[in-house]
Amino acid sequence: MPLILITGTPGVGKTTVARELATRLGCGYIDVADLARREGLTLGYDEEAQAHLIDEEGVRERLRAVARGALYVVDTHVVSAVPPELVEVAIVLRLDPRELEFRLSSRGYPRRKVLENVQAEILDACLVEAVSLLGEGRVFEVDATGKSPEEVVAEVLRVIRERSGARPGSVDWLERLGDEALKYLSASA
Ligand SMILES: Nc1ncnc2c1ncn2[C@@H]1O[C@H](COP(=O)(O)OP(=O)(O)O)[C@@H](O)[C@H]1O
Ligand SMILES: [Mg+2]
Repeated sequence: MPLILITGTPGVGKTTVARELATRLGCGYIDVADLARREGLTLGYDEEAQAHLIDEEGVRERLRAVARGALYVVDTHVVSAVPPELVEVAIVLRLDPRELEFRLSSRGYPRRKVLENVQAEILDACLVEAVSLLGEGRVFEVDATGKSPEEVVAEVLRVIRERSGARPGSVDWLERLGDEALKYLSASA
């Protein structure tokens, strides 16, 4: 199974980590959003989300053709756009919601989009999707909070090599942030 999936809420550091990981593994790198845009595998533009809607079936087909035989690191927050049977291991990057809020605000995201993503991170949205589509055995969490990109890449490499690491459920922002997490969840913009 030739795909290593790097997923997580937008802003957690997927692209930074996945590109370096591909270099270190000497394999290809695919950013699903880029692939979809480049190859016209989109279903129009979602004004509200301010993002292209991915033609998930089209992307899965394309990935099946591309990945035949070769190893790729795939970067996306849309786990359902990746053919599950090709995923060798999935890493869900996690980031303290407060740091995520800072990064997304710095990116110039509108407040509503910042909040939506921070809430998705608190509620484990990508993790839940990964576990439900891939099963628990291939899914690991890596908490990137307070770590340099190099440190995160090293931890991801260790998980890939040893097939061990943080199991789904080990990151719990509700527990760690307490009332602050509830504040994010009840906020609206
Ligand atoms: N470990 C890290 N420490 C500090 N900043 C980081 C780290 N990883 C990524 N970043 C920064 O955070 C922002 C989002 O990273 P990016 O890789 O684009 O995330 P994603 O692909 O998940 O949206 C970028 O400005 C990037 O430079
Ligand atoms: Mg990215």
